[in-house]
Amino acid sequence: MQTGLVDSKVAVEQKTLEGIGVAPVVDTTSTFSDNLSLPIHRWFRYSAGFSALWVRKLINQEKAKGPVNVLDPFAGSGTVLIEGELCDAKAAGIEAHPFVARITKTKLYWRENPDDFYDYAHNILSKTKVQERDISGYPKLIHQCFLPENLSKLDSLRRAWEAEAANNVNLPLSELTWLALVSILRSCSPVGTAQWQYVLPNKSKAKVIDPYDAFESRVRLMAQDMRVRRRQPLGPPATLYFGDARDCIDIPDGWANLVITSPPYANNYDYADSTRLEMSFFGEIEGWGDLHNAVRKYLIRSCTQHAAKHNKEVYTILKEPLLSPIGEEISEVCKLLDAERAKHGGQKPYHTLIATYFSDMAKMWVALRRATSDDSSICFVIGDSAPYGIYVPVHKWLGDLAVAAGFKSYSFEKTRDRNVKWKNRKHRIPLCEGHLWIKG
Ligand SMILES: C[S@@+](CC[C@H](N)C(=O)[O-])C[C@H]1O[C@@H](n2cnc3c(N)ncnc32)[C@H](O)[C@@H]1O
Repeated sequence: MQTGLVDSKVAVEQKTLEGIGVAPVVDTTSTFSDNLSLPIHRWFRYSAGFSALWVRKLINQEKAKGPVNVLDPFAGSGTVLIEGELCDAKAAGIEAHPFVARITKTKLYWRENPDDFYDYAHNILSKTKVQERDISGYPKLIHQCFLPENLSKLDSLRRAWEAEAANNVNLPLSELTWLALVSILRSCSPVGTAQWQYVLPNKSKAKVIDPYDAFESRVRLMAQDMRVRRRQPLGPPATLYFGDARDCIDIPDGWANLVITSPPYANNYDYADSTRLEMSFFGEIEGWGDLHNAVRKYLIRSCTQHAAKHNKEVYTILKEPLLSPIGEEISEVCKLLDAERAKHGGQKPYHTLIATYFSDMAKMWVALRRATSDDSSICFVIGDSAPYGIYVPVHKWLGDLAVAAGFKSYSFEKTRDRNVKWKNRKHRIPLCEGHLWIKG
């Protein structure tokens, strides 16, 4: 699920079929909520994820026509890959966020022996030593997010995992245990986490779980999911590439005949920040300032923190040949955004965000055209945006760029409105989310 640029609480329109006693219909295509009850999917709560059941339906529809090679160029937590395996399709994904890619690769180790994993993780739990922990070296955010007792316990789990990883060559079992630890961190913290996984040290939450209990029950759940999943159809193992959708370099020419994906939206969400807590805990970053080099630089430019580095080049970027199909329209919108910027205290460079976002997405379409077959079906879950209240027709521009890259045609099917409840909104532009269908 994605939030609008300034509407952090998404307004889900519930269409009640009044008078005939039918329950409200809510489109959950673009939300991760279903996945929290599904084996493997639920190992890490990635709010950016979309519905596994909807993905399953799409893959099965395509399978009725013949063999399927499904690609997700923005794989995130691997929803399409895990469902591809279940539906007996060949599945490949690309993810550019190093930490998220590692999580997804680890989920794909579900074929390991569940008992071996359980024993491996329990051995680590049995080696934890709380008494002698020196936790002073953790970054400030970690001290803001955990009480000393819980941080000591988490640290002892981390140290025991590291010691075992250094001695033991069983990478899958080590990585599954790493994921168990990653996925309990937020439940052991008394501070709030926003709907979008940002950490909110000033908000508190009532339920805080003891790290050892959380780890034990997470390991049990993962082992149980591995057993359940082994009783379901296996399908060929899916592959996750840590790479870039703008070149799809690991995908052979014409490989995919189905693409199901949800790219970053042009809505100023910083994916790098979504795993700041976890990366800080594991010592991969010291603080927010390290996120650019550790993560953001690999990603599609979809937030102002990232795009701002290109403020000086924005009018050159707008002249790139790949943007020419939407050249006049995007230049007009960027000029308006540039002028509007001066009227706002924050002076957010949304004009640069929009120019760089579409420049990146234009490259992605060229790469995707090469990686897909002539008869491919492509579905992008996408939403539009309105920075400073200036409307950006995201799905139209993405469709135009796809056709310019060599795809046959596109259509857009709205699945829900956003920003329709005016209260507390910074602008009144109605926004929507839906499926951009592209014909190969
Ligand atoms: C909306 S999320 C996809 C979530 C996914 N559908 C799921 O169910 O977990 C978009 C993903 O694109 C990734 N991303 C951003 N830039 C990328 C790039 N250049 N290449 C590949 N992935 C990228 C982000 O890190 C993020 O995980």
